[in-house]
Amino acid sequence: TTVTIVLGTRPEIIKLAPVIDACEEREIAYSVVHTGQHYSEELDTVFFDQLELPAPDHNLGVGSGTQSEQTGAMIQEIEAVLLDEQPELVLVQGDTNSVLAGAIAAGKLDCEVGHVEAGLRSFDRTMPEEVNRVLADHAADYRFAPTEQAAGYLREEGIADDAIHVTGNTIVDAVMGYRDLAAAKSDVLDELDLDAGDFCLLTAHRAENVDDRERFSSLLDGVARFASESDLDVVYPVHPRANERLAAFDLTMPDEITPIDSQDFLDFLRLESTATLVLTDSGGVQEETCILGTPCVTLRDNTERPETVDVGANRIVGVDADGIVTGAREALAEQNGWENPFGDGHSAERILNIAGLGSAASVGEVHG
Ligand code: UD1
Ligand code: UDP
Repeated sequence: TTVTIVLGTRPEIIKLAPVIDACEEREIAYSVVHTGQHYSEELDTVFFDQLELPAPDHNLGVGSGTQSEQTGAMIQEIEAVLLDEQPELVLVQGDTNSVLAGAIAAGKLDCEVGHVEAGLRSFDRTMPEEVNRVLADHAADYRFAPTEQAAGYLREEGIADDAIHVTGNTIVDAVMGYRDLAAAKSDVLDELDLDAGDFCLLTAHRAENVDDRERFSSLLDGVARFASESDLDVVYPVHPRANERLAAFDLTMPDEITPIDSQDFLDFLRLESTATLVLTDSGGVQEETCILGTPCVTLRDNTERPETVDVGANRIVGVDADGIVTGAREALAEQNGWENPFGDGHSAERILNIAGLGSAASVGEVHG
């Protein structure tokens, strides 16, 4: 094997799909290791099927657990696969526990490590994602930064310039590849009885929000109050983690918010593209709304995607109910038409070119 791609969760499957496609096109000998961090169909196989990805070569079936149970088990299992496959390069993407495990296991073996989506920083070490992305960046050999700002953070941490490559974010490749298909094929608006431009989309699943009863309750309250003031329907595809917490905390979903199942990628893209406004604590959703031209309100205290705020696509409002109502009101009044800061949709090709894999197409690094 030349390249081993390690992934484990919904956002990694979506953002590595363009890289896997590019490996296929270039006929690179690659393998995919799925840690099994996500295993429910709605977070996992639905994306392999819809994005027409080959089944993973290895599924480690690690599943859920505490931070270190999950990460430790993944490190051991990934190491065993890598010792067997002896790849020249291991690619990981993003900031989940699967990424940290892949970077640590590969970083100690005789292979190179590439971190896709390197250099993002929220500067909030209470989030597991921040710890994961910082450590993965420092274990890697190639840091594929989506933007100049991300590259700048890496330089400030003392990483050599020649180990930092600005490639754009592969989410642009995925959105460009599937947006039109979603518009043509998805019936989700009809199925949910929604009118384009007349509803809000909500996602909330981050540990810092849904594992804290007060924060989760305040978040739902703020969104419900905005819904009733603006008279907009709100649909909320509920992540399994949030579902589990709603039940454990005995929280009632406000009438103004309609919970729905987690959506597949085409239906979710369609919802994001046609929503009046998106409210979210997701990283990927902050990027996608920015790319698609839909205003975003981020239900967090900080973001590692400040580019979305700087171009005017996103505002950070926290989970205080009053703050959510005010922020959403302002976002509604704002003009859209900003520039997408995350690249031109050729990030996957650029990543393979930089790693010296296959035919070098004519895409240079992005400089923004
Ligand atoms: C993980 C990432 C988070 C990312 C999210 C993407 C870490 C630390 N967190 O969070 O950054 O935004 O993925 O969606 O890596 N569960 C299921 N089915 C599954 C997976 C999880 O029901 O397939 C439930 C279980 O109750 C589990 C809980 O969700 O305990 C949390 O799963 P976990 O893998 O710990 O993290 P996520 O919340 O999914
Ligand atoms: N997504 C999806 N269906 C949903 C919710 C999200 O397909 O019901 C996609 C979304 O398009 C984005 C990714 O999942 O590409 C974001 O994943 P998530 O919010 O779980 O994780 P994060 O980006 O916060 O790590």
